[in-house]
Amino acid sequence: MTNIPPAHETVEHPPEFDPRDFRNALGHFGTGVTVITTVDSAGQFYGVTVSSFNSVSLTPPLVLWSQVRTVPSHQAFIDSEYFVVNILASDQKEISNCFARPSENKFQDISYHLSEQGIPVLNNTLAHFICKKERDVDGGDHLIFIGRVISYAYSTDDQVTPLFFWKGKYHSAADHQE
Ligand SMILES: Cc1cc2nc3c(=O)[nH]c(=O)nc-3n(C[C@H](O)[C@H](O)[C@H](O)COP(=O)(O)O)c2cc1C
Repeated sequence: MTNIPPAHETVEHPPEFDPRDFRNALGHFGTGVTVITTVDSAGQFYGVTVSSFNSVSLTPPLVLWSQVRTVPSHQAFIDSEYFVVNILASDQKEISNCFARPSENKFQDISYHLSEQGIPVLNNTLAHFICKKERDVDGGDHLIFIGRVISYAYSTDDQVTPLFFWKGKYHSAADHQE
């Protein structure tokens, strides 16, 4: 194999990562933005902005996301049997910001309806997936939640585009120029 220099400048980092720089490196992987919601046994709602959502399996229908263990809502997601993944549209940046910081009443100004399980499902998103928690898996300083999708819905309007997150900032979708 010929030794071809990379087209873009990159610097190889040592194995003892600086966590903040490591996060910057990971941020080069652009993602969509979701809000994961649930409800506890007392009827209190929880919602967190999450970019670690991903598909796992089609049959059975499995998805995953991971949550840092230190945030206030973490115990509620450990305890609850169900969660809902809400995929944000490009005009829902304020919703993403709202669910990305701790607050007593995140749902105050949010438009939503309730799933059969009593979990808030955000309105006007690109799609949502109602999930029964299958298991949680140790993921270092995060916990990985794997859910089995029990129902889902998505927008059929091509004008509704996703909210993107890349290198710590929000972006909108643009068609790739051939
Ligand atoms: C775009 C974006 C993506 C995020 N992705 C995640 C994630 O995948 N996992 C996570 O634990 N926190 C993630 N966060 C941070 C949480 O949204 C944040 O810690 C939130 O305050 C947790 O809610 P709580 O304080 O009510 O527990 C993300 C934040 C933003 C803005």
